[in-house]
Amino acid sequence: MSASLSSHSISSPLSARKARPRVAIVGAGVMGLSIGWRLAQAGCAVEIFDAGVAGQGASHAAAGMLAACAEVEPGEERLLDLNRASQKLWPQFAADLEAASGESVDLRTEGIITVGLTADDGAKLRHLYTLQQALGLPVEWLNPAEARRREPHLATRLSGAILTLEDHQVDNRKVVIALKAALGKAGVALHEHCPVSRVETEGGRVRGIIAGERQVAADVVVLAAGAWSRGVEIAPAPALPVRPVKGQMLAVQMDPEAPLLNHVVWGPGIYLTPRRDGRLILGATTEEKGFDTQITAGGQLALLTHAWRVLPTIEELPIIEQWVGFRPGSRDDAPILGPSAEVDGLVYATGHHRNGILLLPVTAQAIARFVLDGVLDDVVQPFGAARFNRPAAAECV
Ligand code: GLY
Repeated sequence: MSASLSSHSISSPLSARKARPRVAIVGAGVMGLSIGWRLAQAGCAVEIFDAGVAGQGASHAAAGMLAACAEVEPGEERLLDLNRASQKLWPQFAADLEAASGESVDLRTEGIITVGLTADDGAKLRHLYTLQQALGLPVEWLNPAEARRREPHLATRLSGAILTLEDHQVDNRKVVIALKAALGKAGVALHEHCPVSRVETEGGRVRGIIAGERQVAADVVVLAAGAWSRGVEIAPAPALPVRPVKGQMLAVQMDPEAPLLNHVVWGPGIYLTPRRDGRLILGATTEEKGFDTQITAGGQLALLTHAWRVLPTIEELPIIEQWVGFRPGSRDDAPILGPSAEVDGLVYATGHHRNGILLLPVTAQAIARFVLDGVLDDVVQPFGAARFNRPAAAECV
């Protein structure tokens, strides 16, 4: 495991533990799977529970962009630090996972191009570029001819573009396959279709979980259930402010020998993510509709219209898949990481919102290290659940 993040010890009985703890993980998305994998590598007995099939929630729905620089927003400097830290961990994480599993995860390193179409888009891009430069991010301004030289099928009338050189992509569905293979080799018990209803506590510390009809003893419980993280009863810990943020997506099929795009491209209202097998993923709507699974004409029309304006020849391609995913959005759009203040032995790894795949390596590393050593990496310190305990803040959902 990389030791590149600085850290300091926090007061936790976990750090005093001699034997490796028994760990129960609630949620078998990429977070739960990767934390389980890292802990099993360190010799812990790990069991992972999921209400459905492992890796079929946001981990399956995502586009796999590692877009720390392209998606930066004003006022999110601490989240940017976390995102950048994780982005830097991705190559080693991918190499470790591929070696452990024997499966490729298709980490691609072309960078991301963000384009403007109208003069208004161009002004917004300039503003974003100024912010990215002020934050010291590795960005390059491209004029329309330079952008089209890199991606010849882009619309002829561009107003400008930004190349974010260190923003990459990974095939998130292959990451799920690789994590399941690595877990199998590490001997981790994965329980699918086995919903966890309650974390059992006694005297302020974890005793185990109730999963289906089973009572499972555990020293540590990691809550990594994504958008479903409020569905588990954990008295006396308060329910987390995590809600589902619906995203509709679709995929069209390009010729893999002559793809229309090689870079991930962001345009107004759309991102387009090309895969090695020729799939081109278009995403995503952002809808506050709870766990609504409807694929709507309006949502799909918006995606196709925005995509067509950026990449006109897309209209020739067959649609091969349409789907809905649920981002686990927290109240401040940042993840919830680290120990519960109320229940010793309860650890959170949820609320990753738009950045789940990007934040995978840093989450796995920081949570595994905390469970093993009671040490919390500095970069995740600002993202504890306690930040939501201010009296003025009302619960969402
Ligand atoms: N990060 C892309 C999305 O959430 O749609």
